[in-house]
Amino acid sequence: MKRGFLLLLVLVTAVFRSYADEGMWLPQLLGRQVYNDMVKKGLKLSKEQLYSINKNSLKDAIIIFGGGCTGEIVSAEGLIFTNHHCGYDAIAGASTVDHNFLRDGFYARNRGEEIKTSLSVQFLLRIEDVTKEVMAALGPLSGKERAGKQTEVLAAINKRMSNAAKSIETRVSPLFKGNQYLAFVYERYHDIRLVGTPPEAVGKFGGDTDNWEWPRHTGDFSIFRVYANKQNQPAAYDPANVPLKPKWYLPVSLKGVKEGDFAMIWGYPGGTNRYESSYGIKLATNVNNPALVTLRDVRLKYMFEQMKKDPAIKLKLASSYAGIANYWKFFDGETRQLLKYDVYGQKKAAEDRFNAWAKGKSEYEHVFADWAKAYDAWRPYAKARVYLNEGIMGSPLIDFAASLIPLRNALVTEAAKEELAKIVEGAVAAREAFLKEEDKPSDQNILAAVVRMFYENVDKSQQPAAFYDGLQSKYGSLSEGDTYKKYAADVFANTLVFDDARWKSFTEKPDLKALDADPAFALAGAFIRNYQERVGPKYQEFTAKNSDYGRLYLKGVMAMDPDKAKMMYPDATFTMRVSYGQVKAYKPRDAVFYDYVTTAKGILEKYKPGDYEYDLPKKQIELLKKKDFGQYADPVRKDLVVDFITSNDITGGNSGSPVINGRGELIGLAFDGNYEALSHKLAFDKDLNRTINVDIRYVLWCIDKLGGATNIINELKLVR
Ligand code: ARG
Repeated sequence: MKRGFLLLLVLVTAVFRSYADEGMWLPQLLGRQVYNDMVKKGLKLSKEQLYSINKNSLKDAIIIFGGGCTGEIVSAEGLIFTNHHCGYDAIAGASTVDHNFLRDGFYARNRGEEIKTSLSVQFLLRIEDVTKEVMAALGPLSGKERAGKQTEVLAAINKRMSNAAKSIETRVSPLFKGNQYLAFVYERYHDIRLVGTPPEAVGKFGGDTDNWEWPRHTGDFSIFRVYANKQNQPAAYDPANVPLKPKWYLPVSLKGVKEGDFAMIWGYPGGTNRYESSYGIKLATNVNNPALVTLRDVRLKYMFEQMKKDPAIKLKLASSYAGIANYWKFFDGETRQLLKYDVYGQKKAAEDRFNAWAKGKSEYEHVFADWAKAYDAWRPYAKARVYLNEGIMGSPLIDFAASLIPLRNALVTEAAKEELAKIVEGAVAAREAFLKEEDKPSDQNILAAVVRMFYENVDKSQQPAAFYDGLQSKYGSLSEGDTYKKYAADVFANTLVFDDARWKSFTEKPDLKALDADPAFALAGAFIRNYQERVGPKYQEFTAKNSDYGRLYLKGVMAMDPDKAKMMYPDATFTMRVSYGQVKAYKPRDAVFYDYVTTAKGILEKYKPGDYEYDLPKKQIELLKKKDFGQYADPVRKDLVVDFITSNDITGGNSGSPVINGRGELIGLAFDGNYEALSHKLAFDKDLNRTINVDIRYVLWCIDKLGGATNIINELKLVR
């Protein structure tokens, strides 16, 4: 009996251990088992100190930064740390060729020098379980009816639990693929100012060549501040606003990291699909990913051609380029890793086990057969969807033109005057934003290329035939590159979008005929109508079924193994999560060992004068050569530690997340994942998965020694 008990214990721990570093846990629902494991690995804080409903706690320092990043509060006056690549758009936007903060870096020496941005941040106030209410409304519905009803119900709850006047926003998130629904209540602050950034040569050192890879030497940080009104409440930008008095902020540790150290990462992982079906893996590797990569390749090539010519164009395109390049490399790498590790085979094996269990259970036994049919119906159309979104809409002009469709609808339905005026006002603002980042030469090349690629690579029955017929009769053979070039040149020469006078008279007196006659709008319309007719309905059908079967599969997996179910975490949904792990080296492939830190020595080794990705500011080289590391030096390495890796489970959206030690102190900022684990959204690899972080001591060195901004250092609570 005793022996049996012991054996069971050993087994349970063994099963548990294999799950260890995997998991993006909901901090308010940390199970005892998970919390105990965190303590065993080095956590010194109580559950209450991490997350409390009644008291201020660590979670109050973690924010949604902008549209898709994480940030953390690091001072009693609302100072924010996040990644350089999260602040990138704001930094580029604040820069001009003469005051080029993106290139040269920038530090405000006092509050007055901090720069207004259009960013906002969100604090999580509380979470409510609304599963019962949602499930009651959905009942036994399935397919498109269920999807439609879910949208409706969630919107109603969001509305009920939000309060625009108080800047309270609620978003219900379906977890475990719609087996649970939690309402996340946020408070949004709108006055966010840029406080500091290193030069791009530091913040994006290694560029796209090093992106998604270890070993890395990037100082990927930037600094902002939250402002509030005199009552500490959210307010629109106002010079009279004051720095926020936060509920919590993270102290900063100067002690450094060593192998095996406990590390937790808090933040907002955007999305994972760890129970993706084997069919979905195949569709990604065979169709979706390759199509996206091919199209982005072309767009990037034309953008880069112009960017390297002229610093003004570089500033215009930099932010958009970085975003496209980031997921170009991601999806290319994801495909490679999915194939290399036979993730399809792994999923298939898990599905076989499920099917064996499901036999004779009416709720589950049909799932995979039906799921296969849903994929069979959708697969022939998948490419057309990517070619619209990543191809045709990859031309910024066409993407902007497509945004005028609601205006056209308003004209067709003869909408009320006020409504029309509001839509026009929106279009005018959107055009201004578009023009600010528009580079015509690259866009025109992109347009010519993607219209041709769509013609050559998408099934003929899914093309706007009339559009291509017209192209042929006016510009020549569809197998000649020149045809597309002449056409694109005409679009750019004749659209009213670039013509201030014509645009002005159009917006003063919007006219359906003028809009339809515009070549950019006509192109956008032709491809979108084509999609809506031939592809869109299939896609809606597919996604509704895909989510039905996904929900049932996951429900079944949990029913199959109730003990394991207790230890499951929900897929990432851009809701607050904590991941824990440790500082850890790894072996990327046979005979190769990757250390867990990089140092300044490696920065100098990578340095290439004049290079687009590996150049460095003069001052940086001087200081590094002199080994002027001050209090930021690592006592063991006798060098400046730059980046380090941990075994944490994170994904895009976690960018800017704090890496926190067992005492709740900041030791780094998470900024990337490693190449060998780029399949991580669909399958976690416990041996190879690493998070790449910038060491906080390097961040402080950059601010202090390189930037001379001791005012910022003095604002922090340093722990020695
Ligand atoms: N891979 C990083 C992420 O997704 C972004 C890094 C941005 N840097 C770059 N070279 N594009 O969080």
